[in-house]
Amino acid sequence: MYRDYKHRHGDHVFFRDVGKDMMVISRGQGIYLYDDEGREYIDGCAGSAVANIGHAVPEVVEAIAAQAGKVAFTHLSRFVTEPTMRLAHMVAELAPAGLGRVYLVSGGSEAVEAAIKFARTYYVERDGADSKKYQVIARWHGFHGNTLGALSVTGHIPRRRKYEPMLVDFPHIPACYCYRCHYGESYPACGVKCAHALDDMIRQCGAENVAAFIAEPLVGAASGAVPPVAEYWPLVRAICDQHDVLLIADEVMTGFGRTGRHFATEHWGVIPDIISCAKGMSAGYAPLGAFIVQERHHLALEKGSGRFIHGHTYGGNPLASATGVAVLEYYHRHKLVDNSREMGDLLFELMEPAAESPIVGDVRGLGLFMGVELVEDKASRRPFPAGVAIGEQLTRKCIQHGLVLYPGSGHADGKSGDHVLIAPPLTISAAEVAELVRRFRAGLADLERELGVSRLAQAVT
Ligand SMILES: Cc1ncc(COP(=O)(O)O)c(C=O)c1O
Repeated sequence: MYRDYKHRHGDHVFFRDVGKDMMVISRGQGIYLYDDEGREYIDGCAGSAVANIGHAVPEVVEAIAAQAGKVAFTHLSRFVTEPTMRLAHMVAELAPAGLGRVYLVSGGSEAVEAAIKFARTYYVERDGADSKKYQVIARWHGFHGNTLGALSVTGHIPRRRKYEPMLVDFPHIPACYCYRCHYGESYPACGVKCAHALDDMIRQCGAENVAAFIAEPLVGAASGAVPPVAEYWPLVRAICDQHDVLLIADEVMTGFGRTGRHFATEHWGVIPDIISCAKGMSAGYAPLGAFIVQERHHLALEKGSGRFIHGHTYGGNPLASATGVAVLEYYHRHKLVDNSREMGDLLFELMEPAAESPIVGDVRGLGLFMGVELVEDKASRRPFPAGVAIGEQLTRKCIQHGLVLYPGSGHADGKSGDHVLIAPPLTISAAEVAELVRRFRAGLADLERELGVSRLAQAVT
């Protein structure tokens, strides 16, 4: 535990959560993490849907060492290296049709920042400096990162609240979140109002002022793997086309096989104008991200000023690029996208009994991307009061059974509403899925007993 280290050497790490006693992880292997006392945990959330190929993969470690031995850093404004060209080529090959240009960065927030700045750049290059198009419409309940631009399009209230005065005033529309429908309606009778809200918002802003709409294909960290209804993405695609607005799919969490497809928008046959991605792109072996853009939009830049006025020191560095190449090769060699789909089906099947728990309101997601929403009252879908921190409690119980989860909160009303995200490495086997579910159910049963709400407890009282 960090407490012992602190005692001996002082307390110098600036944690996000100052009061929390941190576990010390000393190594990882496959889907497992090991703490400094040798205890083993299933990495049931791959960090935060990052470690998609599992831990300590020898060929990736070798590729990183080999590149570090050649050249670790060159600046992309002056040089390009073979791994950077190769990575961009591989990503473009995986991306939906036409998305042929890859702008490399070092993480998800950077990818979103760059994507929304490119959207503005595109219209200035195409229509001239007088273009008014700059607004980026986003959604409540979405998460796009913590830098100020990315946070401005984020719609998760707890992450925004403190910084609200510093944010750009971008408009937000309700997300497609059927379990807590903003309109209090049910699908399909609702007519997918949440998608038509985009049309209303564009008209309200004036299409001449709107550059882009950004959304996660399935909402990740902010609400727990919430999938849209089937019509949602085709509808928002059509609305964007109608108003000459770019569609940005934020696939930072869902990209690279997480949902059983290379990119999640493939589930609905929709081709975005821009995709932001990160996490699974390097599976945690190096900080890496990108936005991928349609050739025709890049062409506007080529024909225009030729300069995208944006960049970060580490964007497209050789070490991160070589890591990405090795990771993407590993996905391909081990058919991890197929495994994500197959093991995802198994995960959903084996989790069915857990969904019967009196405190589990909803189990949702796609592939190896699952959200479990926790509620105090199942019939009314009433969340636990925020102070109970039920997601954190479940996470602690599961840790005791050797399973790591990713809890999130605040999606019901900005304060209450809890879920845990289950998103293990895409390398997981059937036996490991079964073990993950066994550990989850053991943690859940402990929590139910403590709350006095287990089916057994109810039967006895
Ligand atoms: C959809 C989405 N976009 C952006 C981000 C921000 O990525 P990063 O934390 O790498 O900056 C995240 C992180 O969880 C995310 O899930």
